[in-house]
Amino acid sequence: MTAPFHVALFTLFPEMFPGFLGQSLSGKALERGIWSLETVQLRDFATDNHKTVDDTPFGGGAGMVMKPDLLDRALHAHQPLGRFIYMTPRGKPLTQKMAHALAREQRLAILCGRYEGVDQRLLDAYDAEEISIGDYVLSGGEPAAMILLDAIVRLLPDVIGNAGTHDEESFENGLLEYPHYTRPARWTGPDGVERAVPEVLLSGHHARVAAWRHEQSEAITKERRPDLWEKFKKND
Ligand code: ADE
Repeated sequence: MTAPFHVALFTLFPEMFPGFLGQSLSGKALERGIWSLETVQLRDFATDNHKTVDDTPFGGGAGMVMKPDLLDRALHAHQPLGRFIYMTPRGKPLTQKMAHALAREQRLAILCGRYEGVDQRLLDAYDAEEISIGDYVLSGGEPAAMILLDAIVRLLPDVIGNAGTHDEESFENGLLEYPHYTRPARWTGPDGVERAVPEVLLSGHHARVAAWRHEQSEAITKERRPDLWEKFKKND
């Protein structure tokens, strides 16, 4: 039986999975059948004796390019794909909003590239959605796919017990989250300084706590993420 949320992952390194997705929240959800993960070894779809998966780029230059015919055979054997995603630093930057949208799907197919990338014609033919996890280059799409899946799986129904848990998280309302404190109310750190929890949090006054948290969220966002702050002000 397939889980309500199924992922087919196309990679040259299937042994990297489930990796950290097999632990903690996503691992429990995997065990409970809330989502399922099928890894596909791309090399199995090579047809020559050397099991070739890549070739030199037309036009010259460094690196190797994954072959479109091989990728096509792998994708063709796993229909229906559902939303088809290619992990690449050239992609659209991943956001919480995208994670929510993808969590509403039933099937995802994720292609992880190695080398310089994959032949553009394959991406065009399959209308790939290209996603980046940030402005830096990893040695392959696998860790990026894991991060994308972690962000999605925790949003699936019943993965996190309390349905309201996400509401105040960073990015959910366009702001970074406020700081958290727990017992002891007074704590002396390694620098010998005693630090107290902000008084308002001990007041039991819910409206004042909420107002303080909102102020903190705004201040932190303004300071750390002027880009988010500008957007927040525009939408407010
Ligand atoms: N593959 C290599 N670097 C990547 C990145 N930053 N995001 C997504 N996939 C990648």
